[in-house]
Amino acid sequence: MHGFSYKNGSLYCEDVDLATLATEYGTPLYVYSAGTILDHYRRLDAALAGVNHEVAYAVKANSNLSVLRLLANEGAGFDIVSGGELYRVIKAGGDPAHCTFAGVGKTRDEIVYALEQGIYSFNVESEEELRYLNEVAGELGVIAPAAVRVNPNVDAHTHKYISTGKSENKFGVDFGAIAGLYERAAAEMPNIRMRGLQMHIGSQLTSIAPFIEAVEKVAPLARELKERHGIEFWSIGGGIGIIYKGSLESGSVEWWESQTDEERPLTTVRYGAELVPRLKELGLKILVEPGRFIVGNAGVLLTRCLFEKKGAAKTFKIVDAGMNDLIRPALYEGHHEIVPLKQPATDARVTVDVVGPICESGDFFCQNRELPDFQPGDTVALMSAGAYGFVMASNYNSRPLPAEILVEGSTSTVVRKRQSLDDLIDGEL
Ligand code: LLP
Repeated sequence: MHGFSYKNGSLYCEDVDLATLATEYGTPLYVYSAGTILDHYRRLDAALAGVNHEVAYAVKANSNLSVLRLLANEGAGFDIVSGGELYRVIKAGGDPAHCTFAGVGKTRDEIVYALEQGIYSFNVESEEELRYLNEVAGELGVIAPAAVRVNPNVDAHTHKYISTGKSENKFGVDFGAIAGLYERAAAEMPNIRMRGLQMHIGSQLTSIAPFIEAVEKVAPLARELKERHGIEFWSIGGGIGIIYKGSLESGSVEWWESQTDEERPLTTVRYGAELVPRLKELGLKILVEPGRFIVGNAGVLLTRCLFEKKGAAKTFKIVDAGMNDLIRPALYEGHHEIVPLKQPATDARVTVDVVGPICESGDFFCQNRELPDFQPGDTVALMSAGAYGFVMASNYNSRPLPAEILVEGSTSTVVRKRQSLDDLIDGEL
């Protein structure tokens, strides 16, 4: 399912005309499709049905309370990376007992908060952190549930900034050092209960091969830790990639899953079919931590064209969203399709850069791309902006954060108000 399509010449999110939302709430504006989020969650859950599992949504991808509430109501667990994310999950009705806490630099305050809330596991990234967790838990007189993140040294073949499973990355503990660390935890850290093992090799993986390689490499270790230390879960991380390039149609999971294996290197069906048999015999609870897959194609960023500027070398379409609203193109050379809300009458294309108002040359959404010739006053959708979109937005250039809307069928709800100028200076002297 995919919530975005043209109906009678206008781009809709489910049963809501996006142009109406842009007029009513202004731009830039994030819009999410609840139906798409739920569909993606259910597809992945179903693909893993053959093994005892839990889908722990990676909150960092989109942490809006209403998005979290949707997933909490579906029974999702949550993978968090800060005390702030835990706070959001709790506010949204999520259960801390289904939260795993990842990240290389947890602070004492965050550890205390998570212990008090009774999270499922701290996913620990170094021996130093495990010892510190032991110390803090001891001071509080509690036992901290933990898993160590293993760095399997597998190449995820993704952008260098979102590849995490190689030895040169800062994440996790070297594969060869894990067994010894679990021994030392058992012998020297009385306030730790080793509950599981975790890994995550990278994000936006569009091939199944690195997942298989990592699972095959780490499975014997997971088995050994279960036998020696009684661990109960193995989290194989997130990372399932989505389609950024292509028509509106090819961004849908439904379209993708209808293609042949050569054309679609990774789908939930393939993910489950390849990984479940490799995981099942371990008898462990398997966690997955998808972020982008659940929300990426479930959101768009609407922006209005302000001006067209014809330079000596290029034509620029200047829009009212900037890299502060959606930083993925600037930071990862991320590709987002740019689609006019009014369906173009012809196939005519012009070659343009679409740029924002920020005072940086990196403030572009595309360069030298062939696009329909939308005009000042027209609104376009930056597609696939549901993951790592709003959550990475900033107030750079003193721009208020955009509003967020959640669409469910024909209902649209403002799930975050646009910031006002007063919000911008709130708390400052
Ligand atoms: N688990 C861990 C431990 C992670 O570090 C991440 C993402 C995930 C799960 C979720 O990965 P996903 O399923 O979303 O691929 N801002 C970047 C992506 C950063 C990903 C960081 N870690 C982007 O916009 O491409």
